[in-house]
Amino acid sequence: MILIKSKKEIEYIRESCKIVAETLQLVKSYAKENVTTLELDKIAEDYILSNLAIPAFKGYSQGGSVVYPATLCTSINEEVVHGIPSNKVLKDGDILSVDVGVKKNGYFGDAAISIAIGNVSNEKRNLLEVTEKSLYVGIEEAKVNNRIGDISNAIQSYVEKNGCSVVRALCGHGVGKKLHEEPQIPNYGEKSQGPILKNGMTLAIEPMVNMGTYKINVANDGWTVITEDNLPSAHFEHTIAIINGRAEILTKI
Ligand code: MF3
Ligand code: CO
Repeated sequence: MILIKSKKEIEYIRESCKIVAETLQLVKSYAKENVTTLELDKIAEDYILSNLAIPAFKGYSQGGSVVYPATLCTSINEEVVHGIPSNKVLKDGDILSVDVGVKKNGYFGDAAISIAIGNVSNEKRNLLEVTEKSLYVGIEEAKVNNRIGDISNAIQSYVEKNGCSVVRALCGHGVGKKLHEEPQIPNYGEKSQGPILKNGMTLAIEPMVNMGTYKINVANDGWTVITEDNLPSAHFEHTIAIINGRAEILTKI
């Protein structure tokens, strides 16, 4: 069942989303050559706690799997999502995807950005641009009486027209009292298919876009998702609310 949120509930989600956006902005300002992803994780966690909020991913487990150990997901180059912060330093030419979730007043917010470290190749820069633009192309379709498939199809069409591929095995989701609620929002699919969108829905739309094959594997740590061909991947995510017929972005930086 897709939950319709009241005005009051959307205000709570908005509050969590604001902290998410500010955390991403802060992390982005520190994400440079020679910094470790664990240092970024500490900066993010301190910021979230100082706002009397809770890092949503830390302690999260998906269906009995190992508990996620950190505040951020930090995924470098061929890592798609769910990379675990570590002592590895960022290098010139890397692309870093940062995903963060926050819980406050019992409601979640969720967003991600991908960042160029120093000078990145033209191919990587293009991948970042295509992925971010595909998120906005998807958000444009998140309006009353459209269907989930309209979002999915818009993202897939845009990405493939630009020579990249969308990850199929992972998708966006509803957000509210739980980090992951119905509906699932695939980043590929057919127009006019799936649930109808209504005012009061709160959704996390999150294209994961690969330079090569859409196929992925999971690393031995049980979390890090990696492209099968080891080519780079990028990820952008916003939490939106459908209000007065249209999408309002709650995690805008
Ligand atoms: N934004 C991601 C998602 O919605 C992050 C989840 S990380 C996890 O799946 F640790 F919480 F699983
Ligand atoms: Co998400």
